[in-house]
Order: sequence, then C-alpha cells, then structure tokens
Amino acid sequence: MAFPEHGIKADELLARVTDLGHGDIDWRGGRAFSLVYHPDDEELERLLHEIATLYIHENALNPFKYPSLVQMESEVVDLAADLFHTQPKAGTMSSGGTESIFLAVHTARSFAEKNEGNDTPNIVTANTVHPAFAKACHYLKVEHRCAPVRGDLRADPEAMAALIDANTILIVGSSPCYPFGVIDPIADLAALALEQGTLMHVDACLGGWILPWWERIGESVPPWDFRVEGVTSMSADIHKYGYAFKGASLVLYRDPEMVQHQWFVYDQWPGGLYGSITTAGTRPAAPIAGAWATINHLGAEGYLAKTEQVRDATRGFQAGIAAIDELEITGEPDLSVFEFGAAPRSGLDIGGVGDVMDDRGWNLDRQQGGLHLMVSPYHRRMVDEFTADLADAAASHGESKGKAAAYGGIADLE
Ligand SMILES: Cc1ncc(COP(=O)(O)O)c(C=O)c1O
Repeated sequence: MAFPEHGIKADELLARVTDLGHGDIDWRGGRAFSLVYHPDDEELERLLHEIATLYIHENALNPFKYPSLVQMESEVVDLAADLFHTQPKAGTMSSGGTESIFLAVHTARSFAEKNEGNDTPNIVTANTVHPAFAKACHYLKVEHRCAPVRGDLRADPEAMAALIDANTILIVGSSPCYPFGVIDPIADLAALALEQGTLMHVDACLGGWILPWWERIGESVPPWDFRVEGVTSMSADIHKYGYAFKGASLVLYRDPEMVQHQWFVYDQWPGGLYGSITTAGTRPAAPIAGAWATINHLGAEGYLAKTEQVRDATRGFQAGIAAIDELEITGEPDLSVFEFGAAPRSGLDIGGVGDVMDDRGWNLDRQQGGLHLMVSPYHRRMVDEFTADLADAAASHGESKGKAAAYGGIADLE
C-alpha cells in the first residue's frame, strides 16, 4: 500500500472510519458478550468522551509534570485499596489485566531475587488461570506450573501443593476464572501460600470491580480479597466491570513496600537517571483520568445499581438456558460470567447452535466445551430475544461449520 502523498480532510476520514466500522462487533446493540462491558449509561458515556478529549495528549511518563495525573492515579489506588481492604498507596494503575499480571509476576520475581537469590523461579496456578500468566512467564523467564482443577472447576489446592517447591515465588487463584466464572478457593490457596512461605496473587481482573457490590446486594461471595490472610497481591481491571474505557487496571499489594519491587531504575544512560514503575515508558493519561472520573461518577450507589442489573440479566439468561432441555450451564458459576454447552446425551452440536446465533447477529465466544457469556447492565434488555433465538437455534441448527474455540487475537481458525 502506497504512503499517502497528500493529507486527507478530517471529514472525509471520519466518514471513512464510520464506513470501516460497519464490520465491527455491535456491542451498543447488546449482541456482544465479550470485549466491551456496556454500562447502559448515557451520562457516563458523555463524561468519558469529554475526559478522553481533555487528556488525549497528556503523558503520564513523567508524573512531576502532571500533578493532576499523580493525584488521580493515587486516588484511584487508594479508593481501590479501601474497596479491596488493603493499605493506601499499595499499588499502581496499569494499562490492563495482562500488564497488571506481568507486574505482579515481575514483583514476585524481584522480591524473591532480593530475598533468596532465587535463579529458577516458578509460579503455580490452576489450568483455568488466564493465559496472561503463561505470557508473563514466557516473557519474564519464569516457569509456569499448571495444576488440573477439581470436579467443580475450581483450583485444587492439593494438586497445586504438589507442584510447589523451593523455587516457587507465587501461587495464583482467580476470582473468578474467565472460562467458567467460578471463584477459586482463595482462603485455602492463601493458607497454602502461608504454609509454604510463598506470595499469593488473586487474579480479580474480571471480578474485582463487581464482587464487592455482588456481596453487598446479598449474593453469596466466598472470601476472596485482602481480608484473607496470605493474599499478597491482586489484579483488578477498571476497564471491565469498573466501566471505565480501555487501558485501566490496577495491581495492588498487601504491603505498600512491595511496590518498590515493581520499580525499574537505570542509571547508565547519558540521558540521565531513568525510573519507571510500569512496563510502558510513555503512558497514556486518558485511561487514568477516565478511571478516576468513572469511579467518582458512579460511586457505590451507581455500582450497586449496575450490579443489580447485571445480576437480573444473568438470572434471566440462565433461566432461559435452563429451560432448553438440550442445553446445560457448565459448573456452578459464581457471578455473571459463564459457559453453557450441550446437555449430556442430548446429542446437540453446540457449534451448530453457535453458528445459528452468529447468523442472527449474536457474538458468543466459543470455548472448548461450549459458548461463553459475560453479562453487562445493558443485557437485561436482551434476555427475551436472546433466549428465543437460542431455543430456535437448539431446535433447528444444522451441522457445525467447525469454528474453533478461540480467544483474543486468533479469531477464525477454520
Ligand atoms: C480473569 C482474567 N484475567 C486477566 C485478563 C486479562 O485482561 P486484559 O485483557 O485486560 O489484559 C482477563 C481478561 O478477560 C481475565 O478475564
């Protein structure tokens, strides 16, 4: 493709972009169940557009130049510390769940290096943990040891204990795991970590910003945050159920001192002393300001109201699925994320069901065992239409086109 000789007018480019976007996932219409968490909130949407515009060119690389960003980031960290029951200043924001996970693994490694001179570190997780841990281990040269889950699809502390040795720097539990939406037995894993003298990370990228409210609207939530002794770090994405726009996550620690291990400092550069606390150099400012604005705009009241909407929509989808004989929800999901597949002996081809749903404009992620939903506030409007289409799809689908189970950048493997 030739580099453009002449610039193109803004109006024309905007028209082109609108045109290009016609093939994109229609999340605004409530037919997507991943990638975007639709808060169904016009005022929040307007606020975020304005905040993004205000901070579009700012740079959080050098906090001393932007006291406003330092203040907003430290307030977000402190508000989250209050929510998840750790200490103020015990963490930083990052660009997303994957980066928070990288930072937690990096911090654990540098903590172990400083304390024990450990040179072949490993982390121990369940096999349902998000692939960001495998990726972090690959980049950071840490061994990733994966244990099978129990029959209830939750992490198995015994199977994980068998993988721990003197070089284990971190064990991980998910609150909840992405594939099945179940919360691992965090208290048992934390007890194991204490017994073995390792650090313990809770991956609450997905659940962190909904579980505190889920508990407060009266749903049963097992202990999962820093109230559990032995939990030493946590990742929690504000750009998921926190409803901020993309680029906003948190990595938090039990002890503010742990943040020191996250720093990278380099003093051999002619340009001067280089210090950086996250993996990026230049850091976009808009996600920091956007997260701060979202949290303050919604407050506990706003999050509680949205969580009730998510809960009601989830119950609606689950009742609709349960009413279709050939379908079954996988395991016992703890909140608003779950998989459903073919009921045993139904002979149903779940891939074929997914194909019919695709043809009707729904976007359900395909997993190895079925189709996956993450429910947002907007989805409460879609329950009836969805369950009617699903019942049709179960009754009348053809043979599966064989679309593979895939997540992230590997879209169509047919
Ligand atoms: C449990 C869990 N951990 C980590 C991540 C990674 O987050 P991100 O996609 O923001 O990097 C996700 C993403 O869905 C997740 O569900």
